[in-house]
Amino acid sequence: MQIKEYQKIITEIYSNIKNVEDIGKVANYIPELGSVSADNFGIHITKINNETFGIGNFEEKFSIQSISKILTLALAYKLEGEKLWQRVDVEPSGNPFNSLQQLESDNGIPRNPFINAGAIVVCDVLISHLENPKEEFLAFCRELSNNATLNYSEKVAKSEKNTGFRNVALCNFIKSFGNIKNNVDKVLDFYFYICSLEMSCKELSKIFLFLADNNFKTHKEKRVITKSQVKRINAIMLTCGFYDESGEFAFRVGLSGKSGVGGGIVAIHPNGFCIAVWSPKLNKKGNSYKGMLFLEHFTTKTACSIF
Ligand code: DON
Repeated sequence: MQIKEYQKIITEIYSNIKNVEDIGKVANYIPELGSVSADNFGIHITKINNETFGIGNFEEKFSIQSISKILTLALAYKLEGEKLWQRVDVEPSGNPFNSLQQLESDNGIPRNPFINAGAIVVCDVLISHLENPKEEFLAFCRELSNNATLNYSEKVAKSEKNTGFRNVALCNFIKSFGNIKNNVDKVLDFYFYICSLEMSCKELSKIFLFLADNNFKTHKEKRVITKSQVKRINAIMLTCGFYDESGEFAFRVGLSGKSGVGGGIVAIHPNGFCIAVWSPKLNKKGNSYKGMLFLEHFTTKTACSIF
């Protein structure tokens, strides 16, 4: 597809969806997230040949929340290798992102790395590998995207720390099965910080190019993870990236992707592009209502679903 056509298509879909009634709600169980204006709507695409397209509020930073779970997974997979899967599984949970339910019968092994339970275990793995987890994880993100401005939001991290009772319960529950090796307060503090990372759609579509481009190297000419690891992370995104709505996303959009309660979604077309969408109002499953709608129209109009 020609460059001009991509820009034309996203502009058309953007104007059609902008005025659709949004039946979603901005997340406020983390109080600081509730202060974001619900009208924000941005889209940005970065292709593996570095062509870019954007529309709306694509340069405004927002809380990427669970989207950061892809980054922690990538670093933990790099450091721990296949042993990682002894601590966390790769099956869709079919349950809400913060559910405790399956952990009991699954002996404290979370179903996948994208539900909160799984991401907390991944944080624990990273703490075992890194001397200064917060600093070193941030350095990994900055190098991956050649962007030294990336940062955590102290406000959001503290806001979640004050109200994250479910995550406190999850971490303690998993520890009771022996699948958290470090101090729970340290693990939770790290988890709250990684969720508070802020990025714009433009920054998101760039940082995740390593999953769209099998030959990706950082500006320092380093490979991030192996080709096989890239494929496997995409597979987990396709099957587990939207919690109990992962099937619906694969069905309607047909790309691997991952959402966050800040209203962001990233989606990958392997060997093609990364697209990031942001609209803060979430549907009942915790995924951006307009974000999903946009991506559904986008893959339909461009015929670029992976199927
Ligand atoms: O742990 C939480 O509840 C949040 N920090 C992240 C949840 C999230 O983004 C789920 N996504 N759709």
